[in-house]
Amino acid sequence: MIWEELDKQLAQLAEQHALRHRRTLASPCGTEAEFDGHKLLSFGSNDYLGLASDPAVIAAARDAASRWGVGAGSSHLVGGHMSPHDWLEQKLAAFVGAERALLFSTGMMANLGIVPALLGRGDAIFADRLNHASLIDAALLSRADHHRYPHNDLTTLEKLLSKSTARRKLILTDAVFSMDGDLADLPRLLQLADRFDAWLVVDDAHGFGVLGKNGRGALSHFNLAISPRLIYMGTLGKAAGASGAFVAAGANVIEWLMQRARTYIFTTASSPIIAGALLASLELIEQGEDRRTNLQQLISHLRSGLTNTRWKLLPSSTAIQPILIGENDETLRVADALYAQGIWVPAIRPPTVPQGTARLRVSLSAAHSIEQVDRLLDALRNLA
Ligand SMILES: Cc1ncc(COP(=O)(O)O)c(C=O)c1O
Repeated sequence: MIWEELDKQLAQLAEQHALRHRRTLASPCGTEAEFDGHKLLSFGSNDYLGLASDPAVIAAARDAASRWGVGAGSSHLVGGHMSPHDWLEQKLAAFVGAERALLFSTGMMANLGIVPALLGRGDAIFADRLNHASLIDAALLSRADHHRYPHNDLTTLEKLLSKSTARRKLILTDAVFSMDGDLADLPRLLQLADRFDAWLVVDDAHGFGVLGKNGRGALSHFNLAISPRLIYMGTLGKAAGASGAFVAAGANVIEWLMQRARTYIFTTASSPIIAGALLASLELIEQGEDRRTNLQQLISHLRSGLTNTRWKLLPSSTAIQPILIGENDETLRVADALYAQGIWVPAIRPPTVPQGTARLRVSLSAAHSIEQVDRLLDALRNLA
């Protein structure tokens, strides 16, 4: 029978220690989590500023529900584009310094919308090998030729660009690599995009709210401005604490995406409650210097606490601090040992990361305390 094949494939995944399990979170997103009846100290969320359960954001969500209801009722172009969506787009555009912004329901949807709207067959995409899955799928969906260069290897990228005869070219990169925590060299990428007349699409899922002046993101971190060829995508489910994403770019790009991005057009607009909550979290991001300073201190504390131990931290200056372990079974063993001590750190395995590079992905938040990071450090030192 057609479905019996799946049992074999699932058994294979289990043998390779590659079967994924989800745990049910029975508490709000925060540094203290309750999973399956266990209370744990959590290093597993991307809520980098601690806004997911912030009282002001919750109050804004409640107000938005009272004023605007729960659902948008239809897609943005068919009557579901509500005032809170519109205010949020305007605020986001002004915040990151773009002519216009366009909201999407998730970062995955934004990426799947942007790339196929800009390119098609016969065009060429140049993408970092460690880009997020949504960018890989976006490239495939576009049907453009997909050239992947080794991680952050811009010499190879330059060679690929110089050889390309494609009519339209697009460079696609994470700003902060989601499983490694390091940064793309955006200034050099922009120079290459200028030189070869390519688009540069920057996915700042993990930089928006955290990096740059007032949390404006990776472009601000590098003193770059959105320009006609630079398209910026930020997500709103990580540092912003809610869900969704936005694309910020020149007015004509946004107009074109509104006409052609299928994941924008053919889906119900996200709830106005989310937009209302995000209007509040955007203010907290803008005024969030203390949170960002605290986060930086936690990052330094964790890194210095693991020097001279067997744990190999990847070189990252961001809230994503991966501990490289290598094999799937050992990574799971360490994650399970931490879990047994009341600490939740997700084990990340292939295909999310390359074979042989399974890791623990420690994700820090401004809501963590130094004492909580010390608990993690003590547990890791004991395991080492
Ligand atoms: C780099 C990157 N881009 C896009 C996404 C997708 O964003 P979302 O979770 O909003 O779909 C993620 C995270 O999941 C990500 O890490």
